[in-house]
Amino acid sequence: MIHACDHCCARIENLSVRFRDRMVLENVNLHVNCGEILTIIGPNGAGKSTLLKAILGEVPYAGTMSFRVNGKTRSKMQIGYLPQKTGFDQDSPVSVRDILAATLESHPIWFSVSRSAEKRIHALLEQVSAFHLLKRRLGELSGGELQRILLSCAIAHDPEMLLLDEPDAGIDAEGLTLFYNLVSDLRSRRHVSIVLVTHDLPGITPYTDRMLLLNRTVLAEGEPHEVLANEALIRQLTPTLWNISRLPSMAGRLPSPSPTDINGGK
Ligand SMILES: Nc1ncnc2c1ncn2[C@@H]1O[C@H](COP(=O)(O)OP(=O)(O)OP(=O)(O)O)[C@@H](O)[C@H]1O
Ligand SMILES: [Mg+2]
Repeated sequence: MIHACDHCCARIENLSVRFRDRMVLENVNLHVNCGEILTIIGPNGAGKSTLLKAILGEVPYAGTMSFRVNGKTRSKMQIGYLPQKTGFDQDSPVSVRDILAATLESHPIWFSVSRSAEKRIHALLEQVSAFHLLKRRLGELSGGELQRILLSCAIAHDPEMLLLDEPDAGIDAEGLTLFYNLVSDLRSRRHVSIVLVTHDLPGITPYTDRMLLLNRTVLAEGEPHEVLANEALIRQLTPTLWNISRLPSMAGRLPSPSPTDINGGK
């Protein structure tokens, strides 16, 4: 599997999150390496989204988080985020161009767009195979198209780490393959570290460098075949959601994906 470099990009130690009297995450230890795709799996309510929000600093946590970029330790990192839930008003007149302009220039969408921002919008849309959607309203996009636009917003400020929370939700098989290939490509070209939460085990496994099974705390971590070897545990945690028989071979190392021959393991 591809690694841009092997130093630790993000180190999370002994992290816990409590909502009122309920401990949602406890003693979570996690490294995210530079330029890798780390997939987080776990049942509903496991704390996956909460973990991403803690990394973003959106929920209070106990424990330590440190980042390393280009050999230097930092307390913060440039993070791009694709949330699990977005509340777009289907009737909103906001276009793809509007949302990207507002993301890039950090001002309301009714302001005019500078020439440099316009060029950058075009480049961002090219990167997610969505230039043809420039003038479309967000409300009329398909699930897969919308996720690609949200991905372009997430990479607009050149993140060092991308957090993608269930980007597969509502996308058909073809759209998913395109999305995963784009993500994989981003990882390779920009050396960005990607943490991806999903229930789509068969689809994501060929693209994943490391996998983490979370249920309030880390239950298993390693290369996909190592984590998926805990078949009984995975079946027990998610008896209906994950069809483990559709997974690519778990016996040995999983094959590396190529943009042309991947069909999401289906
Ligand atoms: N702001 C909050 N206040 C109180 N409880 C919360 C809050 N956010 C999440 N929780 C609770 O924390 C637990 C973990 O939620 P989280 O959204 O992180 O789960 P998840 O693993 O992402 O689940 P799913 O697969 O359904 O998206 C759940 O029981 C949820 O109800
Ligand atoms: Mg979630």
